[in-house]
Amino acid sequence: MQSNSDYAKQEYWDDRFKEETEFEWLCGFDVVADILLPILKPNSKILHIGCGSSHLSMRLYEAGFCDITNVDYSQILIDSSLQRYAASYPEMKWICDDMLSLNKIESNAYDVVLEKATIEALLVKEKSPWCPSDEALVVLDQVFSSVTRVLRTGGVFISISFTQPHFRVPALMRNPNWSINVEEFGTSFHYYVYLLKNGEHLSSEIRERYGKLAADWLRPLN
Ligand SMILES: C[S@@+](CC[C@H](N)C(=O)[O-])C[C@H]1O[C@@H](n2cnc3c(N)ncnc32)[C@H](O)[C@@H]1O
Repeated sequence: MQSNSDYAKQEYWDDRFKEETEFEWLCGFDVVADILLPILKPNSKILHIGCGSSHLSMRLYEAGFCDITNVDYSQILIDSSLQRYAASYPEMKWICDDMLSLNKIESNAYDVVLEKATIEALLVKEKSPWCPSDEALVVLDQVFSSVTRVLRTGGVFISISFTQPHFRVPALMRNPNWSINVEEFGTSFHYYVYLLKNGEHLSSEIRERYGKLAADWLRPLN
């Protein structure tokens, strides 16, 4: 890798997945299990976007949540994961698709969409977390609209991130069609699980707390 901006390039991930078979960004399943498990039901239909070589899906499957579709835009990762996991996790699906469009994913179908550290990868070229570029806002609008399209009403987008709420909540407020709840975890270094419920409204508490910070994030694009 030559610079952090490589995280936004598909060729970087393709190259990396020629060798890498397992790498867990931010945290593994055990760390977030207490937050995730109460949200899931045994028959929950789960879409894991930007799955990479994380074992989060495998741990969820072993915990009894087998209807999992993994999406990544690296065909190399998808092919090697299929080969490695098809026999042990027969109900799990692997689809090569871009999370900015999720063109191959059915609408109104999922109870849960899950991402970990992937929005960070999409925004890695940003110069300031206070002043988002137009490019960042376009990317966020695309991801949020794809995610809300594939989620059923009442479904939840779970976004696991190291980005602090004063930067991430304003970004999430660009989508008016979900409520926002934040769970914090970690000891010395803190991480956050953002829980976005599709079809609900923002609470007045979140609007009051983050409204002023959100002005630049909520600006309309030409
Ligand atoms: C920082 S890694 C996170 C991997 C995994 N979620 C984890 O937590 O270990 C980012 C992942 O997102 C994937 N990715 C980046 N941009 C994407 C896009 N537009 N569509 C689908 N996958 C994407 C990359 O290929 C990579 O697997």
